[in-house]
Amino acid sequence: MAWVQWLSLIVNWGSEMKIVHLLNTALLALLSALVLNACAHDPKNPHAYLPDAQTEEALVYIEQCGGCHAVPHPQRLSAAAWKDLVVVMDKRREEREHEPLTEAQRKKLMSYLAEHAR
Ligand code: HEC
Repeated sequence: MAWVQWLSLIVNWGSEMKIVHLLNTALLALLSALVLNACAHDPKNPHAYLPDAQTEEALVYIEQCGGCHAVPHPQRLSAAAWKDLVVVMDKRREEREHEPLTEAQRKKLMSYLAEHAR
């Protein structure tokens, strides 16, 4: 009977659509996982891009060198260049009436920069 064939066609079409839907959902899940992974940025740990970001030296560096701009990656400069640049930043602190670095802070952040410089 013709209506049975029509019925089975509709039912089969329905299950094919389910498979397509399932595949689409899986593809979407895969793509969003890839995208999320590509721009992994943990809001609880915004400085994860820095090497050894959990050490005390790193924390002082982040605290003292991230107040006016993003915390620069230590590999950006050589240890010698960091020494000069931190002197320039001392001037920027002064101009903007920021507290000067204490000797202890300077020692820690310089040792962090020297250790991870390029
Ligand atoms: C009081 C604000 C302030 C603080 C604190 C500060 N900076 Fe800066 N920094 C600036 C300003 C303003 C500039 C851009 C103008 C310039 O180069 O002087 C800058 C620029 C830089 C640059 C880019 C220089 C270039 O030529 O590309 C680096 C790298 C940098 N700072 C590192 C540091 C480090 C390391 C510290 C911590 C010791 C630090 N900054 C702390 C204000 C600050």
